[in-house]
Amino acid sequence: MFDRVWLNANLCTMADGLGVVRDGAVAARDGRIAWVGPRAELPGPAAETVDGGGAWILPGLVDCHTHLVFAGNRAGEFERRLSGVTYEEIAREGGGILSTVRETRAATEEALVESALPRLDALLAEGVTTIEVKSGYGLETEAEARMLRAARRLPGHRAVSVVTSFLGAHAVPPEYRGRQGDYARMVAEEMLPAIAAEGLADAVDAFCDRIGFTEAETEAVFDAARRLHLPVKLHADQLSDTGGAALTARFGGLSADHLEHASPEGLAAMAAAGSVAVLLPGATYFIREPRHPDVAAMRAAGVRMAVATDMNPGSCPTRSILLMLNMACTLYRLTVEEALLGVTRHAAAALGLSDRGALLPGLRCDLALYRVSAPAELCYWMGGNPCAGRVVEGMPT
Ligand code: NIG
Ligand code: FE
Repeated sequence: MFDRVWLNANLCTMADGLGVVRDGAVAARDGRIAWVGPRAELPGPAAETVDGGGAWILPGLVDCHTHLVFAGNRAGEFERRLSGVTYEEIAREGGGILSTVRETRAATEEALVESALPRLDALLAEGVTTIEVKSGYGLETEAEARMLRAARRLPGHRAVSVVTSFLGAHAVPPEYRGRQGDYARMVAEEMLPAIAAEGLADAVDAFCDRIGFTEAETEAVFDAARRLHLPVKLHADQLSDTGGAALTARFGGLSADHLEHASPEGLAAMAAAGSVAVLLPGATYFIREPRHPDVAAMRAAGVRMAVATDMNPGSCPTRSILLMLNMACTLYRLTVEEALLGVTRHAAAALGLSDRGALLPGLRCDLALYRVSAPAELCYWMGGNPCAGRVVEGMPT
């Protein structure tokens, strides 16, 4: 006997490509998927039957790269950029990430939770059931910890899984101005061990770029993560090729993200290491980065591609993962199948989660239901929300 079964629906299992099953059924028991397949073959009864109303059911979406927790916004900088100042110039002046750091340091944990919830709600309304959240706007131990505690509190308010990444090496805080190396060392030797001791991070991230940290500084942070048995991921090769893709691969990283300037060699190294390429088309669009990730090289090398929002106040103030699907297809020329794998199976892999991301027996029963006529519609609309329901661990939310 199943706890619950969804009928009158089409499925994208994402288990083998899109894995389309027309007129399918999904059955849940104890929060897990107990059976999935054509309705005509459904093996047993269920305590409760849910009419899918002809919807398409996908695994609950995974947003594997966000900076959801922050204070304030950067609309003022956006206005300046409209008059020609670049994202990089603003960062070099001490604005950009550091202006969000000033506001985030001044916010209480409660205020961080309160301001994150509406942004989270927008993602959940589109079918997201798992989200990664980074620190990186505290840049001192207590403020970084506060951001991660705020992120960890979100599942107490909403039905969602939260995975956290420590991003202490995001920018050099004002008190370390001119002493970037000292700051990077402090992140590796003091901040990260303190964050890990409190169990606040599931992974360690860094910003390796010409306005971020050098390859050697990033490597020192990754060495520290390795000593603490924490997996790594990287903001890599976003504004310039600093060898971030290959560095991630050397550490067997979960993912390297952005990758607009990554070299084919770096991407091949990622494929060999099994690191996922997380594509963030909203950031490419919003900072008007002329160069796009080399998707052809990723395909040729066999790198798995994920797609995420990068939701943050500076380079991508979006609230929509569905819009990112459209941008991944339109800007980067991903296929519908690649884009949808990017927010399900491959996004779960980018977080090291093997218990979700596809409709397969034994995985968590996290589902997203959409009123669309075909999966391509999920990538086609530029705005609007066809999500008709979400299920988390077998329970409709
Ligand atoms: O993923 N590149 C570095 N970090 C963020 C942007 C952060 C910000 O501008 O506040 C990103 O694009
Ligand atoms: Fe980011």
